[in-house]
Amino acid sequence: MRLVKVEQKWQAEHEAYFKEWGSARMVPSSFNIAGYDTYEEYLEELEIRQRGIKNWVPNTNYFLINDNNGIVAMVNIRHTLNSYLYNIGGHIGYGVRPSERQKGYATIMLAEALKKCKDLKLKRVLITCDEDNIGSAKVILNNGGIEDEHFQDVDGSVIRRFWIEI
Ligand SMILES: CC(C)(COP(=O)(O)OP(=O)(O)OC[C@H]1O[C@@H](n2cnc3c(N)ncnc32)[C@H](O)[C@@H]1OP(=O)(O)O)[C@@H](O)C(=O)NCCC(=O)NCCS
Repeated sequence: MRLVKVEQKWQAEHEAYFKEWGSARMVPSSFNIAGYDTYEEYLEELEIRQRGIKNWVPNTNYFLINDNNGIVAMVNIRHTLNSYLYNIGGHIGYGVRPSERQKGYATIMLAEALKKCKDLKLKRVLITCDEDNIGSAKVILNNGGIEDEHFQDVDGSVIRRFWIEI
C-alpha cells in the first residue's frame, strides 16, 4: 500500500472510485470530480485549492493505492487550521472506497498520512468525526488519538475532536 499524489494517470481509477461512491456526499470533498467538464479542469482547480484560496488553507491530497494499482481510499491533509477546521474539519479528512471498507485501510492510510504531517513539521494533528461515526473514531484511536472537548454545531450535531502527537 502506498500514498500517491493526484495526477492525470489516475483519471480512470478516480472516475471508477467516484462512480462506486454513488450519491453519498464525497469525503473528502477535494476528490469530488462532479461538475467539471474534464479531468484536466478538476486537476487545475485542485492545484489552486491546494495552494490555499478563499476558505481553503494550503493542503495536500493523496490516493491510497493497492498492489494492483487500484485506488482504495483518499486523504486530504490540511497544513494549518482555521476556525472551521479547529472545530469541525481537523487537519486530516479521509474516505475509503465502499467495497474496500472494514479491511483496515483507513487505519493504514491515517498512519501514512501522519508521516506526511511529520514531513510538514506539524507537532500535533487534530482529527475529528461525527459522534455517530464509530468506524472513523476507531481509526483515530487506532492511531493514538487523544480525545479533546467535542464541538456542537449550529444544527445540534456533535463533532468529536482528537489530537495525535507526531
Ligand atoms: C469511516 C471509514 C473511513 C472507515 O474506513 P475503514 O477502512 O472501514 O476503517 P478500518 O477498516 O481501518 O476500521 C477501523 C476500525 O473501525 C471499525 N469499523 C469500520 N467501519 C465501521 C462501522 N461502519 N461500524 C463499526 N465499526 C466500524 C473496524 O471494524 C475497525 O475496528 P478495530 O480497530 O476494532 O478492528 C469509512 O467507513 C468511510 O470512508 N466512510 C465514509 C466517509 C467517512 O465517514 N470518512 C470519515 C470522516 S471523519
